[in-house]
Amino acid sequence: MHPDELLDLIDKENEARSRWKHTIHICTAAGCLSCRSDALKEAFDKEVAAKGLAEVCAVKGVGCMGTCNAGPMVRIEPGGIHYGPVAPEDVSEIVMSLDGDPISRLLCKESAVFSSRQHKIVLENSGIVDPERIEDYIASGGYTALSTALATMSPSDVIAHVVQSGLRGRGGAGYPTGLKWTTVAKTGSRRKYVVCNADEGDPGAFMDRSVLESDPHRVLEGMAIAAYAVSAFHGYLYVRAEYPLAIKRLAKAIRDAERHGLLGNNICGTTFKFGVQIRLGAGAFVCGEETSLISSIEGNRGAPRPRPPYPAEYGLWGHPTLINNVETFANIPPIIRNGGAWFAKTGTEKSKGTKVFAIAGRVNNTGLIEVPFGITLREIVFDIGGGIPEGRNFKAVQTGGPSGGCIPAEFLDMPVDYESLASVGSILGSGGLIVMDDTSCMVDVAKYFMEFSRSESCGKCLPCRTGTPQMYHILGRISEGGGTRYDVQLLEELCDLLKNTSLCGLGLSAPNPVVSTLRYFKDEYEAHILDKTCPAGVCAMASGRMVRQ
Ligand SMILES: Cc1cc2nc3c(=O)[nH]c(=O)nc-3n(C[C@H](O)[C@H](O)[C@H](O)COP(=O)(O)O)c2cc1C
Ligand code: SF4
Repeated sequence: MHPDELLDLIDKENEARSRWKHTIHICTAAGCLSCRSDALKEAFDKEVAAKGLAEVCAVKGVGCMGTCNAGPMVRIEPGGIHYGPVAPEDVSEIVMSLDGDPISRLLCKESAVFSSRQHKIVLENSGIVDPERIEDYIASGGYTALSTALATMSPSDVIAHVVQSGLRGRGGAGYPTGLKWTTVAKTGSRRKYVVCNADEGDPGAFMDRSVLESDPHRVLEGMAIAAYAVSAFHGYLYVRAEYPLAIKRLAKAIRDAERHGLLGNNICGTTFKFGVQIRLGAGAFVCGEETSLISSIEGNRGAPRPRPPYPAEYGLWGHPTLINNVETFANIPPIIRNGGAWFAKTGTEKSKGTKVFAIAGRVNNTGLIEVPFGITLREIVFDIGGGIPEGRNFKAVQTGGPSGGCIPAEFLDMPVDYESLASVGSILGSGGLIVMDDTSCMVDVAKYFMEFSRSESCGKCLPCRTGTPQMYHILGRISEGGGTRYDVQLLEELCDLLKNTSLCGLGLSAPNPVVSTLRYFKDEYEAHILDKTCPAGVCAMASGRMVRQ
């Protein structure tokens, strides 16, 4: 599609939009679909037609609005009225009220607090565009970054903006994206690849899934810009196989982008070409690790290999490969549209921009949020999350999934950024955020994550293969009342061993939940070992009661 045709399409879409007096947005991302929002959309379609409003009222399936625990969600424009949860029986009343006052009993109480502290860059289109219509994405400014880059910028100009933005990889390690792109661009090879890591295996994480289901073209556009910047002509999207809706929408988005000349040959009327294929994840957490992912795409077992050489120099089939996370790519179109300096204005000195978090656990408002780096944990948990249910006490927040740690209440006022979280023994990770109250047992939490690491260990290296089951057994013994002081010492030794000798990030970070719970909640371990009680009443011994040995 030539840039002029892109502008014509935007005009046509905007003209169609101007005819609508009202638009009814219905969330069709996985969370709301599981509460039958498809049936809800059908009911709205029928009702609008039955009332003779089809000419003036649009019914639109959109992506995630963030307030997942209030779904199925509906938003009415103009007015920005959020309703949720909405049932098919409410449809007629909502349509009748379009010109009148909002229906107070259906108003989503979470939506106001949810939106007040957020800053949306990655999720700017989520809940707004129809993920299955490329025209809707284009009319919202989509693909203008790609066409501008191709028409007016050299590959090094593009990389300069990404470097200036300060964007760091959102897949967990926080490696500077501009630096990675520079390395791949500098390699002399004529054959290079761009890979999007959409394996998302952390328990409690659904950020990438939501971006792919809600705004798939944004990720494709980011990948195409990256390919132009590093001179790659082929890309892969490695998507978790358990995400069928994301896969379906991505496949359609790729077909539509090819049809509009936005992927494939002669993109935007230039000589640049870039094709993308989807590869389904092999169903193992370790396949998200970049060298395993490469092996899996090549058709082999997804097992890590030592680095260096890094994929940027030696990746798919031995060629330089740029691997970035879904959210990292989703940040690229706005960076190119608005400039690297614009992006760098948000966030902290070393952590620029925003982060998408999936907030879950013992918190009133659960769902998907996007906040600027530098916001405090207290603001996330108490302002956006609405605090702890049933008036209970906050105990900890777990960040970074099985590679992360538990952060206690004393750090609630700490800013959320890569360095701060690392300084208290956790990691930002990919953005899963689990809130815990005084009904959570920290020994049990450590055991849960160790069980995950143990079962996901690929077995290639000895420390992780034998260390994770050992640690799991020790934690099990402690939680059953059979632990001794020596077990704590053994746990600490195993933590050190795994952190220093494992082959890949899974084993290197598997001890983190144990290290952080031992650091901040040692009294709970001691209660299990010395008093044979589980203070939270979760483990085999009941709260406050002794367990017979
Ligand atoms: C065990 C393990 C699992 C991982 N899973 C993912 C994943 O699901 N998605 C992801 O983007 N990165 C994952 N990573 C990190 C990737 O190896 C890699 O650092 C990342 O995709 C690079 O992209 P970024 O620079 O945009 O963050 C994982 C790492 C490890 C060690
Ligand atoms: S650390 Fe664990 S997952 Fe990684 S290679 Fe070793 S055994 Fe496999």
